[in-house]
Amino acid sequence: MTTATFDTSAAFAAEMDARDPLASFRNQFHIPPAPAGSPSVYLCGHSLGLQPRRAKEYIEQELDDWAKLGVEAHFHGRNPWMPYHRLLTENMAGVVGAQPGEVVVMNSLTANLHLMMVSFYRPTPERHKIVIEVGAFPSDRYAVDSQIRFHGFDPAQSLIELKPRAGEATIRQEDIESLIEREGTSVALFMLGGVNYATGQLFDMPAITRVGHAQGCTVAFDLAHAAGNVPVKLHDWDVDFAVWCTYKYLNGGPGCVGGCFVHQRHAQAWDLPRFAGWWGHDQETRFKMGPGFQPMAGAEGWQLSNPPIMALAPLRASLEIFANAGIGQLRKKSISLTGYLEFLLDQARSDRCVVITPCEPEQRGAQLSIRIARNGRAVLDRLIGEGIICDWREPDIVRVAPVPLYNTYSDVHRFVQRFSAALI
Ligand SMILES: Cc1ncc(COP(=O)(O)O)c(C=O)c1O
Repeated sequence: MTTATFDTSAAFAAEMDARDPLASFRNQFHIPPAPAGSPSVYLCGHSLGLQPRRAKEYIEQELDDWAKLGVEAHFHGRNPWMPYHRLLTENMAGVVGAQPGEVVVMNSLTANLHLMMVSFYRPTPERHKIVIEVGAFPSDRYAVDSQIRFHGFDPAQSLIELKPRAGEATIRQEDIESLIEREGTSVALFMLGGVNYATGQLFDMPAITRVGHAQGCTVAFDLAHAAGNVPVKLHDWDVDFAVWCTYKYLNGGPGCVGGCFVHQRHAQAWDLPRFAGWWGHDQETRFKMGPGFQPMAGAEGWQLSNPPIMALAPLRASLEIFANAGIGQLRKKSISLTGYLEFLLDQARSDRCVVITPCEPEQRGAQLSIRIARNGRAVLDRLIGEGIICDWREPDIVRVAPVPLYNTYSDVHRFVQRFSAALI
């Protein structure tokens, strides 16, 4: 969307809201109140998504079945718990562009990343390196660093961090590709964030996968900031594995269960090493309780434990909303909303802040990261006191994400007004 289609008045924002075909989805979420009692301007879905109104009903249904049926609810509840996680599979597969057998909801992001690396990071003396982006989320860095050491290698030689050029905030695609071509034959695993948590940069996942595979590397993504934010087509892009959390754009609730994708090509790769648990064992014979582990085909074969039903229930409610809204429609609104945010920030012309997120819509999702000179933390604290919710990442970044499911153009307008006032 070009900046020419926006104007700076509050009336324009109200008009855009009135014309928004997705506007009614906002009513399906609880919007936290501001200190004054009116709804806050909640622009923090990149950190913790809002609660779907149906989440409570879905949790209560399971509490009720537990109360009335006890253990019998595993098989005779309204939604039997034994296969409960499968109620989420199809909608989750839709969110990340996967076939249902390629996706499972289990554990948490970092745990799934380790489980995936056990199977897919198989370093040899010739091919032992892992590539991540500099400024990757710390948990990812700790995970890959510890896996490298676990295999007896030294991160000083085996961990490559892709860097932006001097004076730039984000990484150029051409630099990613030239690194793959230069180092590719010694790289075992490429593991980038689909969208970087700090800069909001969306990487060209299909191109990276193509170039990585051409060099014989395994290619994986952490989709924490991409799932539910930008369209993803993991199957078609031929990504080897991906992991993500569900408490950000996917609104599953704090600490909700993670998502995991394993490409169909690996569905029956029985020779891969894996850490096993009973929930990954063939479901036909699971309750025979035998000693020999026989994994299920597909992503479900990496499950360890029976899942927490109360945590899956709100995610189920949220994924139904995604299925109704459609990722394509959401992306269309998201590009417009974030473009509008960028336009208003640009018009506000503060010399204290600069947007470090790429300005091309195809290189970002909903989030803009704004670098603030001189005590930006105080700006954020003031905004929060006024019921404008965004967040802070050290040393100097405010992250703001208008989320198309529940944010409005008027939210964005109010944010920029208050933000500009706080910068003076
Ligand atoms: C990009 C990224 N990776 C990993 C994590 C860690 O997630 P978890 O605590 O669910 O393992 C987060 C959490 O916010 C994240 O943003």
